[in-house]
Amino acid sequence: MLPRTMDRLEAQLVAARGRSGVGRHGLLDRYRDLVEDWTGLLEACRRPLPLVVWANPLRADLAHRLARAAGLGGELDECLPALLRARGYVVEQVAWYPSAYRVWGLEKPGHTLEHYLGLMHVQEEISLLPALLLGALPGERVLDLCAAPGGKSACIAVGMNDAGTLVANDVRPTRLRALRSNCERLGVTSVVITSIDGTRYPLRAGPFDRILLDVPCSCEGNLRVTPGAGGGRMGAAVVSGRSGLQATLLGRAWKLLAPGGTLVYATCTFAPEENEVVLDYTLGEDASILPFSVPGLRHDAGVAEWEGKRLRHDCRNLARYWPHLNDTGGFTVALIRKRS
Ligand SMILES: C[S@@+](CC[C@H](N)C(=O)[O-])C[C@H]1O[C@@H](n2cnc3c(N)ncnc32)[C@H](O)[C@@H]1O
Repeated sequence: MLPRTMDRLEAQLVAARGRSGVGRHGLLDRYRDLVEDWTGLLEACRRPLPLVVWANPLRADLAHRLARAAGLGGELDECLPALLRARGYVVEQVAWYPSAYRVWGLEKPGHTLEHYLGLMHVQEEISLLPALLLGALPGERVLDLCAAPGGKSACIAVGMNDAGTLVANDVRPTRLRALRSNCERLGVTSVVITSIDGTRYPLRAGPFDRILLDVPCSCEGNLRVTPGAGGGRMGAAVVSGRSGLQATLLGRAWKLLAPGGTLVYATCTFAPEENEVVLDYTLGEDASILPFSVPGLRHDAGVAEWEGKRLRHDCRNLARYWPHLNDTGGFTVALIRKRS
């Protein structure tokens, strides 16, 4: 059963969106007071997203051999961009993430030899952030509770140098197919795939050192990925039920997390009802939402009050990535530590 407070919040959210959810950016109107450069935000939402790929260190030898065969040299960090540049694409290093690149002119990255051989993976830039924040180390036990289609899982496993255990779970088995084939292509062997309702994930599977909780959400931040998503695909029916499910998933993930462990809560949406309010409702005194900043990546602070309700003070430490701040999709992330 969903908590009553969350039911009320959802009803308010649905009502608010029903009023403002006309037109492509109508849904964002309720965040005007949270955004300093409103025009910049709307303009960013009209532009397509830059294509971003990251180089796979597990295929370093292959990248070197391919680069040498093409008469190119350099370290792994230089091999992939060199190979792509040699094909005429414009490549620019992502300022805040090692070995990730924005690539212009590459329309079908999945059709390239570099992709086929697992030298690179295509991922929306801002969705590289959860893996970086999670900071999973080789040998650890890590859970990605809502993992499909699996871009972030692949990123975490590669960051762990494919050593340790990453359990990638999703309630929808068909959505896990892409994760399986990506792991194979990238040479990742440390991922165990499960398909269980995360709200009832067996506690005996824990405890985990780190957990990524990239919850199903109303996807407002994907305006740039799916033009029209904000005004068309979204709506009361889509939004309804999200906050309650998010809170229940977080409650379960918290029980699965080891004392002293780290949990990253992420959504690709702006609604405080799906972010700060969920954390405020679910987390207790054994949780701290930590402040963080990533050099080269701008964010706005979370809200500690929403629609007249005061939230726990560390909700300010959530980071809101509006599309115009870094020319990415929209994202909201919290880094949470469980007391030992
Ligand atoms: C935002 S997507 C995750 C994206 C993924 N982390 C990635 O980077 O590719 C949310 C996922 O949650 C899954 N999901 C929804 N309800 C769930 C539940 N009760 N338990 C586990 N997964 C669930 C959905 O099937 C969906 O794949």
